[in-house]
Amino acid sequence: MDHHHHHHHHEHHHHDAGKEHSDFAGANEAYFDAGAEKNDVQPEWVKLAHDAVEAILKAYPESFDKDKTQVLDFACGTGLVSRELFPHVNSILGIDISQASVDVYNRHVTEQGISPEKLKAVKTLLKGEDGELDGNKYDVVVCTAAYHHFDDVNDITRILASFIKPGGSLVITDTMPEASIGSAPEMYERVAHVVPHQHGFTEEQTRAIFEKAGLKDVDYRFGADASYEGRKLTFFIARAIKK
Ligand SMILES: C[S@@+](CC[C@H](N)C(=O)[O-])C[C@H]1O[C@@H](n2cnc3c(N)ncnc32)[C@H](O)[C@@H]1O
Repeated sequence: MDHHHHHHHHEHHHHDAGKEHSDFAGANEAYFDAGAEKNDVQPEWVKLAHDAVEAILKAYPESFDKDKTQVLDFACGTGLVSRELFPHVNSILGIDISQASVDVYNRHVTEQGISPEKLKAVKTLLKGEDGELDGNKYDVVVCTAAYHHFDDVNDITRILASFIKPGGSLVITDTMPEASIGSAPEMYERVAHVVPHQHGFTEEQTRAIFEKAGLKDVDYRFGADASYEGRKLTFFIARAIKK
C-alpha cells in the first residue's frame, strides 16, 4: 500500500474551557489514510453499510427518489455506504478528510464505469463558509458511522444542515450507548485518539444535536447490529428535516 505518514497541521478550534486541546480531525485523517484499503474490504464494515442502507431506505422511503435525489455523503470513507445507496438516488457527492479513502472511493467509480458527475468523492474539511461545494445544496445529507469521530458534533451538524435544501433531510447512523466502542475497553484503547464520543449517542442527545442545528421532526430508531473483533456494536439510524 502506498501511503506515507505525514504530520498534519490543522487549525485548532478552541472549545469549552477546560476541555483538552486535541486535534481529532488531524488524527482521523492519518488513521483513515492508513486504514483505507483494509476498511474498504473489512467484511463487518461492508455488511454494516449494507444493513444500514437497507434500514434507512425502509424507514425513510419518502426521502429517496431514484430520479431526483441528490445526496451528500459526509465522511464517506471508501464509499461503502455510497455504493449501497447509489442505485436508489440520482447522484452522490462524497466528502472525507482522508485522501486515501477518497482515492479508493473514486477508483471504484472508475472501475464500475460510472460517471463522476453521478458519483465521486472529494477530500475537503468543510467549514460551513459561503461558496463551499460550489454553493450546491442537497436533498439528503447522510453521515454514517462517523459522528463518534467528530470533536464538535454541534458544529458539524450546523455545517451539514447548511448544505440541505428546504424540506430535505439529514440522515445519520452511529452507535447506541449500550453496545458502543466504549463498551469494548480493549477496542476503545486503540482508537481513543480518533474517537471523542466512545459511547455513541442516545436518542435525547441526537435530538438535541439536530434541534440545535435548526432541524425538525427528529426520528431515532434501531438500525443495525454489527460485530467487530468479536464485540457487538449496535447502530441507530436517525433523520431530521430542514424546514
Ligand atoms: C468509520 S469511517 C465511516 C466511513 C463511511 N461513512 C462508512 O459508513 O463506511 C469514519 C470516516 O469519517 C471520516 N472523518 C473523520 N473526521 C472527519 C471530519 N472532520 N470531516 C470529514 N470526515 C471525517 C474518516 O476519515 C472516515 O473515513
